[in-house]
Amino acid sequence: MKNRVDVLIGAQWGDEGKGKVVDVMGANVDVFVRYQGGANAGHTVIVGGEKIVFHLLPSGMLYPGKLCVIGNGVVVEPEQFLKEIEELRERGQDRARLVISPSAHVVMPYHKILDKAQEAFRGKGHMIGTTGRGIGPCYVDKYARSGLRVEDLLDGDRLREKLTMILEEKNRILTKLYNEKPLALDEILAPALEWGKALVPYVGDTVELLHEAIKDDKHVLLEGAQATLLDIDHGTYPYVTSSSTSAAGGFTGTGVPVSRVDRVIAVVKAYATRVGEGPMPTEDKGEIGEFLRKQGGEFGATTGRPRRCGWLDMVAVRYSVRLNGSDVIALTKLDVLTGLDEIKVCTAYDLNGAKTTHFNGSSYVLEECRPIYETLPGWSEDISNCTTFESLPEKAQNYVRYIEKHAGAPVKVIGVGADRNQTINRGLY
Ligand code: GDP
Ligand code: IMO
Ligand code: MG
Repeated sequence: MKNRVDVLIGAQWGDEGKGKVVDVMGANVDVFVRYQGGANAGHTVIVGGEKIVFHLLPSGMLYPGKLCVIGNGVVVEPEQFLKEIEELRERGQDRARLVISPSAHVVMPYHKILDKAQEAFRGKGHMIGTTGRGIGPCYVDKYARSGLRVEDLLDGDRLREKLTMILEEKNRILTKLYNEKPLALDEILAPALEWGKALVPYVGDTVELLHEAIKDDKHVLLEGAQATLLDIDHGTYPYVTSSSTSAAGGFTGTGVPVSRVDRVIAVVKAYATRVGEGPMPTEDKGEIGEFLRKQGGEFGATTGRPRRCGWLDMVAVRYSVRLNGSDVIALTKLDVLTGLDEIKVCTAYDLNGAKTTHFNGSSYVLEECRPIYETLPGWSEDISNCTTFESLPEKAQNYVRYIEKHAGAPVKVIGVGADRNQTINRGLY
């Protein structure tokens, strides 16, 4: 396979199985890169029955000798970062080389406190249902130019000076606006200095590294977190996350030039899920939703919350495929649909009595959209050991073809189970 730069993104509301797809592609990848988001992500990899959930580290960490990069666009919670490394080390699985950008912003304890306080302030009916990982407040500080970056943790004097100024402002906000306790400088500074020391071996010029890797014809994979419909610009605002989760975020979040990207891989789950608040036209609060949650194990990898489930929303998927310019689709969790007599797919919406196939990013409009379904026949054969497309039951093959036709992109990999081996490769890697 030609060496190349791939961007992999989620096409729905997250948890499509991006971690697994990155992992199955891993043997042919040289450099794995996270470019946005932070520890709000939960990317599950299962190898030989053993489960690992990555929050901050790229999902390629299990591959010996490979380079894993945390780009400048990521917001890093140092404690979580160090914890994940330690967990891998304890299992003897810290096999990759890991480099983190000095320009990545740091999620500080006050960001997490603010995240929760702001959610409480929004209250019922307005809350977003965040992961509570401090992501929004950290990105706010980044754009307000009052954030701390990884480089700031490396110089004790500078850190003290900056933190003194920052805490003066934060403490006013925490106490006067949210009735929270003020934070003492030392309580924040002492651990931050320790984080800085622990991070030193990992900090490096990631932009330079990536440009060199591309020059040397390496296969670079940019691993998106969250997903297109949670994108700060193109998602269902305000029920989104605070970063550019679509493929475009991969460029600003790493320094990889737009012109260098060869493929955009859209990861699509065979049905729909969403965690947190916000419109979801195909949400099923009855039997089908329950079936999908149970069969698919749809509980948050980061927060443990039950995921909202429903039929595949093709209007939304088509929007994502187009927005990201996806060349190929990685279809996941096809096995979860096994046993259903019929499978429905939302191909259009009823919007105030008119049929539309247009996905409108506005939450106000999407709230009013009612799904219009087409019904396909289901299959009952166990597909979890299928290794080729031809060995899938014909009705499962037809479901895949249907998705390809309506999404306008070929399905190049199919997930038939959570394990690395339970994958049908149709030329993705
Ligand atoms: P991510 O955030 O996109 O990486 O996805 P998550 O890891 O949060 O959620 C996907 C869940 O589905 C995880 O528990 C995976 O182990 C599991 N999974 C991934 N692909 C498949 C598949 O093809 N079949 C089944 N049954 N489970 C899968
Ligand atoms: P992965 O990478 C699913 C959702 C939260 C909430 C909204 C904003 O595993 O697919 P935030 O904490 O980011 O400010 O929360 O976004 N959310 C996710 N949903 N998968 C994720 O990540 C998510 N990361 C954030 O539930 O609705
Ligand atoms: Mg997840």
